[in-house]
Amino acid sequence: MSEAPLILGLETSCDETSAAVLDGDDRILGHVILSQDVHAVYGGVVPELAARAHLQKVDGVVAAALQEAGVELAEVDAVGVTAGPGLIGALLVGVSWARAAAWAVDRPLVGVHHMEAHLFGPAIEDPEARPPFVALLVSGGHTLLLHVPAWGDYILFGETRDDAAGEAFDKVAKLLGLPYPGGPAIERRAKAGSLGRFDLPRPMLRRDQSPQASDYYDFSFSGLKTAVGNLVHGLDGMGMLDVRRDDVASGFQEAAVDVLVSKTLRAVDETGCGRVLLGGGVAANGRLREVMRDRLKRARPDGRLFFGSPRVSLDNAAMVARAARFRLGQPGDPTPDIQASAGLPFPGMIRRDPVAATGPC
Ligand code: KG4
Ligand code: ZN
Repeated sequence: MSEAPLILGLETSCDETSAAVLDGDDRILGHVILSQDVHAVYGGVVPELAARAHLQKVDGVVAAALQEAGVELAEVDAVGVTAGPGLIGALLVGVSWARAAAWAVDRPLVGVHHMEAHLFGPAIEDPEARPPFVALLVSGGHTLLLHVPAWGDYILFGETRDDAAGEAFDKVAKLLGLPYPGGPAIERRAKAGSLGRFDLPRPMLRRDQSPQASDYYDFSFSGLKTAVGNLVHGLDGMGMLDVRRDDVASGFQEAAVDVLVSKTLRAVDETGCGRVLLGGGVAANGRLREVMRDRLKRARPDGRLFFGSPRVSLDNAAMVARAARFRLGQPGDPTPDIQASAGLPFPGMIRRDPVAATGPC
């Protein structure tokens, strides 16, 4: 293999069919992301339709990415594919395609964990976006707060106990009669809304919490969703929903962002690590970035915030190729018989030990 391996990445874990070619300097030579629109009318992703759409489009998407990169399949040095977690039917399409392709050109195949790939998204655009950092990974299926002293070394501080952050945006959008995916729709509406009209609850965020208790870092969004539901119901009954929709969107977004930022800053405080990375689809939210940047600056004037453009934050194959490149350099052989797994464990992740002091940043 050449010094700077050329990697073909493939992502089909949810409702984006994406392929990318990344060179050894993390330059994106080709990148195609096809968002499936079949789900919009259902207000959420329909797994069976997602798998079918991947199957129909995967050949064309990979061909287009290779063409953009100006390379043939036989010229890539390795193939990386999201092996999980995600929708099993959707994952199977990508994994089967990648296995066949890697076998056909006799190249190593690397199975990638989708959330580890999200960690690598910002690094594609900014080489400074590397460990050590505290990472907030917020997507449609996961909410993870991690301390990352080094690539491959992941200490779990907190996770959601019910809905993921993106899922909360999607469900609240539905309650407000806004289209799927809900995140961008809520963000747009919230911009037009009045910031302080509705003060909604901040679940699992209280001043009297102890760092030794798991709710100190864990998240919960279902109570916030219920509070929005009750508010929407009340406003609707008074015929006020149409004039207050933007204010509700803003109230929800402020509450969600406050919880996400506050818990991230708790981890900054404990680890002493003022470098923060935002990853996953919700990291595309401008208000989250803005509040995180302002509050981090106040807490740690020397702190730094990293996030990628929406193209490498939302589901995409460039981040998969980047994570595959890291995994390729790790001990242990890439295996030709990787399996798709809806509940793939996060490689290298351990839980934070609440009584042991966390190592230096
Ligand atoms: O990472 P991602 O593309 O897919 C998963 O791995 O789930 O994240 C998708 C999630 C959706 O829930 C979507 O509503 C949310 O990211 N999202 C946003 C924004 N853009 C996408 N949430 C808040 N604000 C946004 N601008
Ligand atoms: Zn994702």
